[in-house]
Amino acid sequence: IHVEWDAVTAEKGGFDHFMLKEIHEQPKAYRDTMLGRVDESGRRVVFQDLKLTEEQIKNIRNVQIVACGTAYHAGLVGRSVIEQLVRIPAENDVASEYRYRDPIVTPETLVIVVSQSGETADTLAALREAKSKGAHVLAITNVVGSSIAREADDVVGTLAGPEIAVASTKAYSSQLIAFYLFGLYLAQVRGTITEDAAAEIIAAMDALPEQVESMLANTEAIKGYAEQISKHQHLFFIGRGQDYAVAQEGSLKLKEISYIHSEAYAAGELKHGTLALIEEGIPVIALATQEDVLEKTVSNIKEVKARGADVMVITYEEHVVNLLKSVDQAFAIPKTLPVLTAALSVVPLQLLAYYASLALGHDVDKPRNLAKSVTVE
Ligand code: AGP
Repeated sequence: IHVEWDAVTAEKGGFDHFMLKEIHEQPKAYRDTMLGRVDESGRRVVFQDLKLTEEQIKNIRNVQIVACGTAYHAGLVGRSVIEQLVRIPAENDVASEYRYRDPIVTPETLVIVVSQSGETADTLAALREAKSKGAHVLAITNVVGSSIAREADDVVGTLAGPEIAVASTKAYSSQLIAFYLFGLYLAQVRGTITEDAAAEIIAAMDALPEQVESMLANTEAIKGYAEQISKHQHLFFIGRGQDYAVAQEGSLKLKEISYIHSEAYAAGELKHGTLALIEEGIPVIALATQEDVLEKTVSNIKEVKARGADVMVITYEEHVVNLLKSVDQAFAIPKTLPVLTAALSVVPLQLLAYYASLALGHDVDKPRNLAKSVTVE
């Protein structure tokens, strides 16, 4: 037998596309990003090479998280993690907006820039702006030798390995892991978390890789749903809290590679205008994992259902039976702590975008008009 085997095919490691390969590399990326960052007891996070001193950490008054695109979306989750664990006010900025709004920065401001490539022009410009105003800048990046890594005061590397597909997947989810770790570290230093609570989060983080693997072993339902939505031109993602942050990432992923128009909405915001767009048969993907607001999300689901939407919900197994009373389809994700859910709930959305793009015959890895790294402003 003669097998045609070129270099690109070999690099894809048996997968049809880099994107699918990279989705499947997430469990490894999670493990690698955690490696060496938890002490032997499993109860404390350690960051050995930070220039940011414990004294500085105790004095931080606010955090600004700045990035573009998918990295910005990871920052939305990061903000929630930092606010929950550390109780420091945190805000998000799109990098292309940040330096033109004359941001209010003091030496007690910690600026976190997030970038897979470490070369995004707007993020680099934001970093320089923050530094020039006296902030301590920490970069979460996947490329250690990048411009952003070199110019930042501190670097928390994600160990996702090279990401080739334009649509970012494993870089995003590794950025989440970096935020969980760094958030825990800040919380430890500032004394806003007990060792028991930290140990519980770390143990739940240790379980994430296998949980992702379990989702990746069973993708038929998402594939079928992707084929269904590929026949539509518009759809909506809704969610509250971290579910809303993940909804925004799911919507971007779908737009960039399937070219299907979608919008992500904070579920409670729909009735302030967007509900007018809900009509018979329009797909709505509802993320409903945040249990403190589950009932609220369910009532928003009922609002769109009543207007004829076709609703698919992503939730925990234990809520499926109940939610199926209000929705058309449900997809269950493995159970984790609320603060960590994004690392799991994003996976079906990545697969959804991938299979929708595939069903429509698009170039999954190289979508039109887009570059992997945007080095111009
Ligand atoms: C992700 O799917 C996108 N292609 C894009 O939004 C990307 O995340 C953005 O351009 C930022 O890139 P960076 O992480 O390399 O800075």
